Amino acid sequence: MQDIINILPDSVANQIAAGEVVDRPASAVKELLENSLDAGATAIQLIVKDAGRTLIQVIDNGCGMSDADARLCFERHATSKIKRADDLFAIRTMGFRGEALASIAAVAQVELKTRQSGSELGTMVVIEGSDVKEQSPTSCAEGTSIAVKNLFFNIPARRNFLKRDSIEMSHIEEVFRRVALPNHNVAFSLYHNGRLLYDLKAGNFAQRIAGIFGTGASSRLYHIQESTEPVKIFGYVGKAEYARRTRSEQYLFVDGRFIKHPALSTAIERAYSELIPDHTYPSYFVMLEVDPSRLDVNIHPTKTEVRFLDENIIFAILRAATKKALGQFALANELEFDPSDEIDFTPAPKGYVPEQPKVSYNPDYNPFASKREPAEREPASGISRSEFEHFFDTAVPDEVPERLPLDDEPSPMPASAVGTSSPIGYQNRYIVTTLKSGIVVIDQQRAHERILFERLVASKQARKAPQQLLFPVNIRLGAADAEMMTELMPELNELGFVLSPLGQNTFVVTATPADLGDVELQSLVEQTISDYKSSMLQKFSDRDKSICLSLARQMAVKPGTRLKPEEMESLIADLFSCQAPNLSPSGKKTMFILSEQELAEKMR
Ligand SMILES: Nc1ncnc2c1ncn2[C@@H]1O[C@H](COP(=O)(O)OP(=O)(O)OP(=O)(O)O)[C@@H](O)[C@H]1O
Ligand SMILES: [Mg+2]
Repeated sequence: MQDIINILPDSVANQIAAGEVVDRPASAVKELLENSLDAGATAIQLIVKDAGRTLIQVIDNGCGMSDADARLCFERHATSKIKRADDLFAIRTMGFRGEALASIAAVAQVELKTRQSGSELGTMVVIEGSDVKEQSPTSCAEGTSIAVKNLFFNIPARRNFLKRDSIEMSHIEEVFRRVALPNHNVAFSLYHNGRLLYDLKAGNFAQRIAGIFGTGASSRLYHIQESTEPVKIFGYVGKAEYARRTRSEQYLFVDGRFIKHPALSTAIERAYSELIPDHTYPSYFVMLEVDPSRLDVNIHPTKTEVRFLDENIIFAILRAATKKALGQFALANELEFDPSDEIDFTPAPKGYVPEQPKVSYNPDYNPFASKREPAEREPASGISRSEFEHFFDTAVPDEVPERLPLDDEPSPMPASAVGTSSPIGYQNRYIVTTLKSGIVVIDQQRAHERILFERLVASKQARKAPQQLLFPVNIRLGAADAEMMTELMPELNELGFVLSPLGQNTFVVTATPADLGDVELQSLVEQTISDYKSSMLQKFSDRDKSICLSLARQMAVKPGTRLKPEEMESLIADLFSCQAPNLSPSGKKTMFILSEQELAEKMR
C-alpha cells in the first residue's frame, strides 16, 4: 500500500498556525506591542498605514536582539521567555509561546531592525512568507523596530476578507488601548496615515485613563482598591449615573494583561444591581494581580482567555470591593452591606453565626404625615441632600441661583438669592424642584415606591410592632392563591401584618404595618400574590424583597394624585435620604436632572 502522509513544510505549518494568532491587522499589532513590553521598553511607537493593510510598524527602546536571535525569533517555538513546562505556571511576560513572530512572518513582508545596548551595529532581517530574504548588519537606534508590510499578501482570501479601514482601525485602536492602559508606566504613541492619534506619556493609571478617554473621565469614576491574599485589586469603576448602553468601556486586566472573563465581569456588574437601569452597563478599568501559579493563561493563542484557580473567591472579593467603591460615595443599595465598614476578608471562625445587620432608619416616618424642612433633616442613613449634590457633581459655581422662580408665586427673595425652592407639581405626576446641580424633575410614583420599599425592608429588620385593626378583615382566596398565601404568610407577618388562616381558603388580618395607610386589604393581598407569582419579580433573589417591592408599588402614590406642597417637600426630603434615590426599586429612573450647562445649551 502507498504511504500518503507528509510532514508539512515549515512555511505551510506557520501559515496554518498564523490563522489562530493573526486574523486581522489588530492582532499583529497586539503581538508586536506585547513583545516590546516584554523587551522592557519604556517608550513604544506604533505607526499604521491604511488601517494596517499597508504597514504596521512598532518601534521600541527595549533590550534589542543579538544577530543570532534576530534570525531565530522568526522560527516557530523560538522564545526567550520560557524554558521548561514548569515555567508555564510562573509566567510574568506577555508572550511565552514563541509563535507570534513566526506567524506574522508567514503571512507578511517583515523588516526587523534591532540593536542591543552596547553593540556598535545592529542587525537587519527581511523575511517574506517565512522566507528569509536578507540579513545584514545595519546602523539603527538601540531597541527594536519591526515593520510588517502588506499583511496577508500571500493569502488573498484573508486580505479580501478584511473589513473597511474604519472598522479595522477601530480594532487596532482598541488593542492599543488594552495594551496601553495597564502599562501606564510606558509611553505610547499611535500614528495613522501620518496623523498622531494618541501621544501617551508615562504616568499613573488615572493619568493613562485620562490620556485615552479625556480628562473628564476621572469625574465619572470611583477608585477601587483591595488587597487580599488571592488577589489584589486596583483601578476605577464608573459612577452609576454614567452607565452606558453598551459594554464598550469595560476593561479588566490580570497581571497587566487585558482579559475577557464573563464571570468576573458579572461580579462587577452585580455590584450595580438596583443602582443602574436595566440594559445599561457600568464602565470599569480594573486591574487584578494574582500569583501566576494560580492563573492559567495558556488556554488560547491570543491569551485573552484565562482561568483562575481561585475564581469563586476572586468573584466574591471583586463584587464586594466594587460595592465598597460605590458605597463609599453613593451607598450601594444593598441593605445588608454597611459601606462604612471595612470589609474583612479573613474567613469566619468555625461555628460563627453572622449577626443580623442593623439598619438605622426611622420606620415611623410617614412622608405625607407632616411638613418638614429638608434642610433640618438629618437622615440616619442614605445620602443627604448635600451629598446628593456631590453625587451629581457637575461643578456648578456657588452663585448660581438655587431657586426656581415661579410665575404664579410672588417671589419673597430676589431670584439670585440662594435658597431652597418650593417644589411645584406638573400634570399631577412630576415634581419639579432645584438642586445646586440643576433643575430636578421627580416622578412622584417611582420616588414614593423607592421610599416605601426601603422603609419596608428596614421595618422588617427592625421588627416593628404592627398596628391592631379595629375590626379584623377576612380575606377569601381561590385554592391556588390560598396555598401561595400560606407560603407567603411568614414574610408578611415579619413585615408587620398579623395574618392567620381561618380554614377553607380564608385568612384573617388583625393588624397591619403602621404606615400602610388606607388600602383595601383583599386586593392588596391578591395583588401581592399575583406579583409574587409573576416572573417580573424574580429580580430579587430573596422573596421578602420581592414582597416589599410589590407592597411598595401598591402603596405608592399614583399618577393623577395631586400632592400638596408640603407633601412634595416631604417626598423629596425622603427620597434624598434613600440608599438609592435615583432608581425605583424595579430599576426605573426616579428623576431627571437638567444642569445649568445643559439648560444654557438648549437656550442657544
Ligand atoms: N521587540 C522585541 N525586542 C526584543 N526582543 C524581541 C522583540 N520581539 C521579539 N523578541 C524576541 O523574539 C522572541 C520571539 O517573539 P514571539 O513574539 O514570536 O514569541 P514570544 O513573545 O516569546 O511568545 P508569543 O508567541 O506568546 O508572543 C521573543 O521571545 C523575544 O526573545
Ligand atoms: Mg510575543
